[in-house]
Amino acid sequence: MWSGRVGGELASAVWDFLRGDDAELLPYDLQATLVHAQRLYAVGILDASELAEVEEKLTAIEGIDESDEDVHSSIERQLGEVGRKIHAGRSRNDQVAAAFRLYVADACADADAALTAFAGVLIARATENATTPMPGYTHLQRAQPVTVGHHLLAWVEMLGRDRARFAFAAAQAEPSPLGAAALAGSTLGLPAPRNAMRNTIDAVADRDFALDYLYAAATLFVHLSRIGEELVLWTTSEFGFARLPEEASTGSSIMPQKLNPDVAELARGKAGTAIGRLTGLLATVKSLPLAYDRDLQEDKPPVFAARRDVAGALGALTVLVAGLELDAGRLAAAASDPLLLATDAAEALVAEGVPFRDAHEQVAASVRDGSFTPPEQVTDCYLLGRGIDVAAAVGAAKERWS
Ligand code: ARG
Repeated sequence: MWSGRVGGELASAVWDFLRGDDAELLPYDLQATLVHAQRLYAVGILDASELAEVEEKLTAIEGIDESDEDVHSSIERQLGEVGRKIHAGRSRNDQVAAAFRLYVADACADADAALTAFAGVLIARATENATTPMPGYTHLQRAQPVTVGHHLLAWVEMLGRDRARFAFAAAQAEPSPLGAAALAGSTLGLPAPRNAMRNTIDAVADRDFALDYLYAAATLFVHLSRIGEELVLWTTSEFGFARLPEEASTGSSIMPQKLNPDVAELARGKAGTAIGRLTGLLATVKSLPLAYDRDLQEDKPPVFAARRDVAGALGALTVLVAGLELDAGRLAAAASDPLLLATDAAEALVAEGVPFRDAHEQVAASVRDGSFTPPEQVTDCYLLGRGIDVAAAVGAAKERWS
């Protein structure tokens, strides 16, 4: 591809080092190359039969091989003779950015679908457990009674924000860098894409869309790690709130009795990796002079890996949560400790005109000396009495995720 300038063969150690791990970009580069070919046809650089030939050959390309420096040079090689015309008015710099943007947009669509499936299962479980009591926690100490439905809807809220972050990343990836060529456009007068980026230097230098994707993935994984941690806790003998479904739990290689929450743990563990991918690419882009530098080849592997993990973790957790067997008896027993109504009792005094600090002291004293009894009107008050309508929240969540 650039043999006209560099006469001799590259040393194999150099070749191996420079080769991009970018085969996953192939379908996206094929798509962007087709658009580029149409632009060449529009100004007469390709004639109709050459365009037809390019179109046909592009659909036949299935992979790249060891002898290719990267996916871009591979496509050019596999187009054969007509491939010698295809790179007019473009550079691998705008080519890789175009293909990578299409990739990220697609990865965001995948994430949206997997989030929607997981949220759908959570909303279904919340519907069926809208009134199943469970203790709510702060500091991992039992705090106030809530219901399983209310807690699961808290998870759904996190996923809703994740969904918005992936949509933002997709919107950032949408503009097209085609036409920027190496960094300064071309003299060939190719038609600008409808969504062309405004500045050719920015078009080949910008990787914010990939950072936005990795940020969305990292934040999603932070959420999945919190969900995973709670599932690990709930399924211990100590909590005993739930049993893992067999299709989403693992056994021990030595201890025959065990059912392990590996799915929840791995989702939790992958949060570290997801955060690492984001900070890694931030560090790669930091201080890079505009426009393109080969450092940017490092942008793709973390995004490819994040896409696999997002789909993998959401898919497995969806199965786990769908089959989770809640132990309503254990949950109710844990939630029915009368002390969890201490706050409601203090608020009942406030409603009678007692200043809150005095009410707090009175109730605390009764807890300390063992005389605490929750007032009649709040003993059965879970959520509606506190202004929380789980049934309505479930309905609204179904709307948002439909
Ligand atoms: N494989 C390269 C990448 O992923 C493609 C762009 C190479 N451009 C260049 N000027 N060497 O970034």
